[in-house]
Amino acid sequence: MTDRIVLAYSGGLDTSVAIGWIAEATGAEVIAVAVDVGQGGESLETIRQRALDCGAVEAYVADARDEFATEYCMPALKANALYMDAYPLVSAVSRPVIVKHLVAAAQKFGATTVSHGCTGKGNDQVRFEVGVQTLGPELKCIAPVRDLALTRDKAIAYAEAKNLPIVTTKKNPFSIDQNVWGRAVETGFLEDIWNAPTKDVYDYTASPEFPPVADEVVITFKEGIPVAIDGHAVTPLQAIEQLNHRAGAQGVGRIDIVEDRLVGIKSREIYEAPGAMALIAAHKELENVTIEREQARFKKTVGQRWTELVYDGQWFSPLKRSLDAFIDDTQQHVSGEIRLELHGGRATVTGRRSETALYDFNLATYDTGDTFDQSMARGFIEIFGLSSKVASGRDQRAAEGN
Ligand code: ARG
Repeated sequence: MTDRIVLAYSGGLDTSVAIGWIAEATGAEVIAVAVDVGQGGESLETIRQRALDCGAVEAYVADARDEFATEYCMPALKANALYMDAYPLVSAVSRPVIVKHLVAAAQKFGATTVSHGCTGKGNDQVRFEVGVQTLGPELKCIAPVRDLALTRDKAIAYAEAKNLPIVTTKKNPFSIDQNVWGRAVETGFLEDIWNAPTKDVYDYTASPEFPPVADEVVITFKEGIPVAIDGHAVTPLQAIEQLNHRAGAQGVGRIDIVEDRLVGIKSREIYEAPGAMALIAAHKELENVTIEREQARFKKTVGQRWTELVYDGQWFSPLKRSLDAFIDDTQQHVSGEIRLELHGGRATVTGRRSETALYDFNLATYDTGDTFDQSMARGFIEIFGLSSKVASGRDQRAAEGN
């Protein structure tokens, strides 16, 4: 039987060419797999047909938007995942759900190998292949750009020679990856890290420079997950979509950083994640109100480690799974409402309300109703500072002795 290869297919030039390129280089049949993670653009049916027209023997398409939002974006929200304190893991969280569908398609169609369009310099090749190795250890991986010398110029020439039904003239200077959690833009003139991004880089956000009037939004959370916006029930996907729209209109969630890739390269990336950044701001503040101090401090460390693991392609690793269990446990009381003001590039918390708050008005107040016994503070401070005080006395004696 002819060998079969499943290819992660976007419908764009490179992966359209990859279908024939892989088939010619390996003699295998190629099955195209397109996964909708909310990247917008063409319909799955259009993409499916193009894959077949480009020579795929089968095309597998999946609307994974709800799955992606619920099972991949929500864990990132619960972790307040910001790589290098800035990047909400837009591409990093989408790879594992695509991998899941690639492996399912490989099993369904009897393929031995999984293929993707990544280069040999980025994180995404690692995320795809580590994911495939974990979910389908019997599967092999091949990346035509990296392993079969499929350059951009060759792709254009091939598409024209074979008359593939794909536009080759539109020369986009950027490499873009987008989904419902956000948008990542790199390469082109952005590689000079002194260059400011130009207007055409952005698509999910309007310029925050001349914002419309402020937009006030109330987000209801249940156990760390958004369940309503302004009192109307929403699914995780709807919550992200609605906030992408509203926070995007105010220019919220533009990020410009030089980041550390797993392969050792520093790279410059522009991100737009209006919904994700608004949700993280709201979720963090609700945690401040509802999570006990020591648990909260430790969770920050756990969230950071979780973020690095996911960035590094370890979504399906045992450690990531264990950290998920810890994070989920912390979310038990993260329920209530956060009011945000979206305006001029910022999502600012202006109110919080929770039945499970640890904020106690009577303990906090300086007005009447105070239940905190201030006389306890003196003894507490004495004992809390005692070990440092003893050490300091020793240090002074030692210094005098010298
Ligand atoms: N640097 C980001 C990451 O590794 C985004 C990569 C996405 N690709 C792109 N063409 N911008 O998660």
